Amino acid sequence: SLYQKGVRHLCEKPISKVPGKYILPIEERPLPTKPNSGRAPLISLPVVDFSELMSPSGRSATLVSLAKACENYGFFQLVNHGIPSGVIAGMIDGSTRFFEQPYEERAKYMSSDMTSPVRCGTSFNQSKDRVFCWRDFLKLTCRPMAQVLPHWPHSPADFREVASTYAQETNRLFLELMEAVLQSLGLKPRPLEGEGGSIMKQFEEGSQLMVVNCYPPCPEPDLTLGMPPHSDYGFLTLLLQDQVQGLQIQHREDWVTVEPIHGSFIVNVGDHLEIFSNGRYKSVLHRVLVNATRSRMSVATLHSLPYSCTIRPPPELVDEANPRRYMDTDFASFLKYISSCEPKKKNFLESRK
Ligand code: SIN
Ligand code: FE2
Repeated sequence: SLYQKGVRHLCEKPISKVPGKYILPIEERPLPTKPNSGRAPLISLPVVDFSELMSPSGRSATLVSLAKACENYGFFQLVNHGIPSGVIAGMIDGSTRFFEQPYEERAKYMSSDMTSPVRCGTSFNQSKDRVFCWRDFLKLTCRPMAQVLPHWPHSPADFREVASTYAQETNRLFLELMEAVLQSLGLKPRPLEGEGGSIMKQFEEGSQLMVVNCYPPCPEPDLTLGMPPHSDYGFLTLLLQDQVQGLQIQHREDWVTVEPIHGSFIVNVGDHLEIFSNGRYKSVLHRVLVNATRSRMSVATLHSLPYSCTIRPPPELVDEANPRRYMDTDFASFLKYISSCEPKKKNFLESRK
């Protein structure tokens, strides 16, 4: 059907009403139905300064704020991350031009095969969603780069170059952050010879998925969502958003809007880190609002262990006071589960206690 071809294609002819396919039941719409309550408030996320984290004098204090952010928000704003602004601008620009191409260019990559190294699509899970989301996406598997890169889009001509540079830079940043996260949990990320294997070695060979999201302007933004409430599956997600507001996170039972800070990343805890940390760090539900006037773009990179790894807390994080809260999982069964369920997969984590 027309809707399977995506929102950009749908909007090629200007429309003034949202088709029924995208209209959410009242209780799932972004605006609270209570009178006078208005749109959600803006939130300033805890800030983590990456340059402080990497400095000998600033590291220990920054690890404390990192831990607090992961415990209390599941999200933080990462500043001074060291990825050149040209790499970031190139990624946003390349992605914008990718989605500006005619539908036929995206159609080449439309597939329901979750294992494909490149996949274009629309909504959240377009083969299952009863109500569609106002979002088109491009998903790129990033590892092993030499194997997947030839499959990535060949148009625009520079896309593979800018996107692979961006993927490598975000992966490098993820590895530094992950090492800090492990340390903030009281673990030794790189034990000495003979002390058992290094988990950082596993992350170096881990998985990385890049999701480019495109949210066209929506004539009736209060009736629909760009993304439904969901949590991310990996250890950490590094999210780049353009200047247009839209991301909301759940904080103390309320939806709050995250203010975009130019040049920074939003980092969030994923389900795998929640399981690994035995519940100490929280994978928090988030969703995306659309708006009437501006197109919005975001790029999320999801990082985890290799697909074959079992995800479970290390023995140091389990004791009598902190019994196991989740069953072991592995990536393959986790992905299978996700593709078979409704977005609110928090229920899944809870049920594994
Ligand atoms: C996501 O949740 O993966 C995307 C969030 C966003 O577009 O800001
Ligand atoms: Fe997400």
